[in-house]
Amino acid sequence: MAILMGSKNDWEVMKPAADTLEQLGIGYEARVLSAHRTPDRLVGFVTEAESEGIRAFICGAGGAAHLAGVVAAHTLRPVLGVPIPSSDLDGMDALLATVQMPGGIPVGTLAIGKAGAKNAALLAAACLALADPELGERIAKFREEQAAAIPTEPIATG
Ligand code: RP5
Repeated sequence: MAILMGSKNDWEVMKPAADTLEQLGIGYEARVLSAHRTPDRLVGFVTEAESEGIRAFICGAGGAAHLAGVVAAHTLRPVLGVPIPSSDLDGMDALLATVQMPGGIPVGTLAIGKAGAKNAALLAAACLALADPELGERIAKFREEQAAAIPTEPIATG
């Protein structure tokens, strides 16, 4: 799995993706690769990635967020986009830029911010689990533990 982000400043938002992949036992590489500032480095990474075993890309970017779309243009692997709330528009700009891909080159877009990063990891894991039953079992365990941690009442009693 690759976790890409347009700026090192995006890492705080993208870290839940990394944490979730670790919980599920999925290896990943995290990289700062900007569609605007380091376009050659970005394309170089993506075009090498498939042969190096990267099976899906999670891309976080803020502002006029082109990262996920550019990655999707250079790979046949699934690309998931996470809008980063790093601008004065609090991620609404990145959400629209990421989600409104013209037909033909898909980007699966998640929620703005940390919840989107976490869910991108879970959705990517679900894709990989189609061909990996053991991973499917780990996802089921994740869900069970998540449910068990939800209290039945809002305030602890007794
Ligand atoms: C985008 O511009 C990045 O994804 C980041 O969210 C935003 C601002 O980048 P910095 O100026 O903080 O490096 O490309």
